[in-house]
Amino acid sequence: MKVEMRGLTKHFGSTVAVEDFTVTLEDGHLTSILGPSGCGKSTVLNLLAGIVPATRGEILFDGEAVTGLPPELRGIGLVFQNYSLYPHMTVLGNISFPLEIKKVPRAQREESARAMAALVHVDNLLHRKPRELSGGQQQRVAIARALVKKPNLLLLDEPLSNLDARLRLEMREEIRRIQQETRVTTVFVTHDQEEAMSISDRIVLMNAGRLQQEDEPQRLYHEPRNQFVADFLGTPPINHLPGHMKGGAFILEGGQARFPFSRGAGAPEGRPLILAVRAESAHVPDPDEGALFSASVESIYAMGKEVLGYFDIGGHSFRCYLDGDMLPRPGTEIPIAFRERGTFLFDGETGERLL
Ligand SMILES: Nc1ncnc2c1ncn2[C@@H]1O[C@H](COP(=O)(O)OP(=O)(O)OP(=O)(O)O)[C@@H](O)[C@H]1O
Ligand SMILES: [Mg+2]
Repeated sequence: MKVEMRGLTKHFGSTVAVEDFTVTLEDGHLTSILGPSGCGKSTVLNLLAGIVPATRGEILFDGEAVTGLPPELRGIGLVFQNYSLYPHMTVLGNISFPLEIKKVPRAQREESARAMAALVHVDNLLHRKPRELSGGQQQRVAIARALVKKPNLLLLDEPLSNLDARLRLEMREEIRRIQQETRVTTVFVTHDQEEAMSISDRIVLMNAGRLQQEDEPQRLYHEPRNQFVADFLGTPPINHLPGHMKGGAFILEGGQARFPFSRGAGAPEGRPLILAVRAESAHVPDPDEGALFSASVESIYAMGKEVLGYFDIGGHSFRCYLDGDMLPRPGTEIPIAFRERGTFLFDGETGERLL
């Protein structure tokens, strides 16, 4: 099912939870809603579910407005962080409960529940109670219960955050598999960039109630629309070098370093800018390549095949990866150049991307 949000807005008193949110989720896609704590992710999900009413704006399911429709008429399946299984019911009872409410005959609802249990791989646990299950198993049951009514839209709010690191990895792959087998349009809320990057067809990145960018994971990483997007994605975080353009060169704040940054030629002169460089986008240039600037080495961490260097460039800290066979000593100076990919120029005041 295709889901459209148009100008969707939710205020709680004076708190702006979601503001003028316009996004389309394509049929059959898994879309993650990603952003820092408090940015409005759960509110968007609850607006889609019909649990909270919108202050303004519209929601359309396959072109039909559902903005005023109660949750039970929206054809959605919901899974929250704390699974909320019924403790006194067995796995089979939990999964078939939504069908019992719909007064589906017993034989039929058992058949559907067993099929869902098989889909999420808990068909060998049907007669256990929730307390006899691991966290990952409970989460599988919660997903089966959300899917048993054959929803048009599956909504998952941080479904993995109660699981330990290993189970999280396993379950996120499971969610992807289940989603691909059922092709149900899915919205997955998370604040974990790696989780979102690894399982999504599209990512909706939010900050402070507003949409920042909606895109394929790789495009979000390689073509961020603004500095918030560039900062939010990637480990270690992207480097920032503040400065301004003058006479075709980037003048680093502090005035010491002046880089002949030809790509910056189109940027407005005199304005405060941020030159942002991903850790994998800086490198030690070959002698004939020409150094962009000189960096003094603070510390070097060799982590298996990767070497991460901490540098100081004109008073600004800078991190980048080095070739494994090159271990410069702390206190020395090395030349550094940037690759075009992963180097961006942002407006220092608005955060908008200029290059
Ligand atoms: N029922 C409510 N009443 C008042 N304010 C609310 C209510 N629900 C959410 N808010 C506020 O709206 C904003 C967005 O909250 P929301 O729960 O959507 O954030 P979130 O992105 O899901 O955060 P988290 O990652 O911590 O779950 C926050 O400032 C929150 O305090
Ligand atoms: Mg939330």
